[in-house]
Amino acid sequence: MERVVQQLEILTETDKEACEMPRISKEENRGNSRKMYIESYGCQMNFADSEIVTSILQEQGFDTTSDFNNADVIFLNTCAIRENAEQKVRNRLKHLTNVKKNRPGTLIGVLGCMAERLKSKFLEEERIVDMVVGPDAYRDLPRLVEEADGGQKAVNVFLSREETYADISPVRLNSNGVTAFISIMRGCDNMCSFCVVPFTRGRERSRDPYSIVAEARDLFAQGYRDVTLLGQNVDSYKWKASEESKETCNFAQLLEQVALIHPDLRVRFTTSHPKDFTDEVLHTMAKYENICKYIHLPAQSGNSRVLQLMNRTYDREWYLDRIAAIRRILGEECGISTDMIAGFCSETEEEHQDSLSLMEIVKYDFAYMFTYSERPNTPAAKKLADDISPEVKNRRLNEIIEMQQKSSLERNKLDLGKVHKVLVEGTSKRSEDHLQGRTSANKVVVFPKKHYKKGDYVNVFVNDCTNATLLGEAID
Ligand code: SAH
Ligand code: SF4
Ligand code: F3S
Repeated sequence: MERVVQQLEILTETDKEACEMPRISKEENRGNSRKMYIESYGCQMNFADSEIVTSILQEQGFDTTSDFNNADVIFLNTCAIRENAEQKVRNRLKHLTNVKKNRPGTLIGVLGCMAERLKSKFLEEERIVDMVVGPDAYRDLPRLVEEADGGQKAVNVFLSREETYADISPVRLNSNGVTAFISIMRGCDNMCSFCVVPFTRGRERSRDPYSIVAEARDLFAQGYRDVTLLGQNVDSYKWKASEESKETCNFAQLLEQVALIHPDLRVRFTTSHPKDFTDEVLHTMAKYENICKYIHLPAQSGNSRVLQLMNRTYDREWYLDRIAAIRRILGEECGISTDMIAGFCSETEEEHQDSLSLMEIVKYDFAYMFTYSERPNTPAAKKLADDISPEVKNRRLNEIIEMQQKSSLERNKLDLGKVHKVLVEGTSKRSEDHLQGRTSANKVVVFPKKHYKKGDYVNVFVNDCTNATLLGEAID
């Protein structure tokens, strides 16, 4: 979830769907005869999966390209979370029709969540598609490509109870060489009524901790300094060596093992679910300086009746108790962010006010904010009417965004006059003479370059801020 990059954009451009900006593969020429292009939509899980797909195809003798006009195979790794995420993919496919006209041998494959949702229906709806491949079927890609090469349409949308791709080394795409994502689990066993993910990604399963630690260690040896452990609900991470074995590992234990690799390796994680978020994780975070003090704890709504309709399995009080636990154990400095949905089925004006008041109480550093988008076949689509008009949804969303902008600025102002340890991720997007990095609390900091470089830890005195960025000077 390139959340960091989007952080600036969502608040400055109020692009409500900023999470769904595509990511594309880079140019990598190993002298192979065939080239693949991959474009990824949706969350960080999808971006991480694209790195697995690239690894599998490189083994099969494919180079990667950043220009689809040069590709023999074009993959779109798709997202189905909201209606407009799917619309983006359909528009992209229209655009690719010309490519296929000019180079008829080019194969087009749709991967990921939209592929899983629509299955072979995709082939009927979008004639230019040659392959439809769900998130658990990527090992089968070599066979599917061969089938498509032979002129057949190829489909594999089988969802697995075991697949974690644990043994596959991802090929890092769009990498800054400093930060990387590691998938620690797949699927989701929650049934939030609005959400398509349990249907597109299947049952929850946890990856073997040894392979996770080995991947993190390897990244550190390559110069990476910040890893984010990824899962839809990391707090329910639970691994067992075998049915009979007593050897188990929970999320707090996994976090500790990754933190122990090296004090200079920062560890982050996302997403936490309020119902499973334990004090044990908070105490582990407090124990290690290199576990970043930042928690993404999506509330979705501030009203208990709406939360119940959403089947989030916690209420407003429970959520606020978890926030109080964060403040008690990690203090005021810990960054907290949320996801909020405006205009869920039957949400009243008062209930919407509860979301605003929750935001006012918590004072999030950052938020991802959406209008409710009904997804076919989800529990909400089956049982509840999508009865809030688009105008009201958008007005409520704008109120939520406005509240968040105020609170981001307020939280950023608390950092003024303080020194923060910043890990440099690269040159600032706005100026070649400035570097950009993040604090432990996930705040973006921009400061004059001097002699510092990517991958350095720099102490920065913060002297100015906007609602999206801290500005400062390095202290030598
Ligand atoms: N596993 C994570 C989030 C996964 S999806 C969690 O439980 O929080 C990311 C976010 O998209 C969700 O948190 C939710 O805010 C939003 N979302 C999911 N389905 C949606 C829908 N149908 N309409 C609008 N927003 C949705
Ligand atoms: Fe969707 Fe809920 Fe699972 Fe998150 S926890 S992926 S919102 S079902
Ligand atoms: Fe992620 Fe979108 Fe799938 S948010 S899990 S890519 S539906």
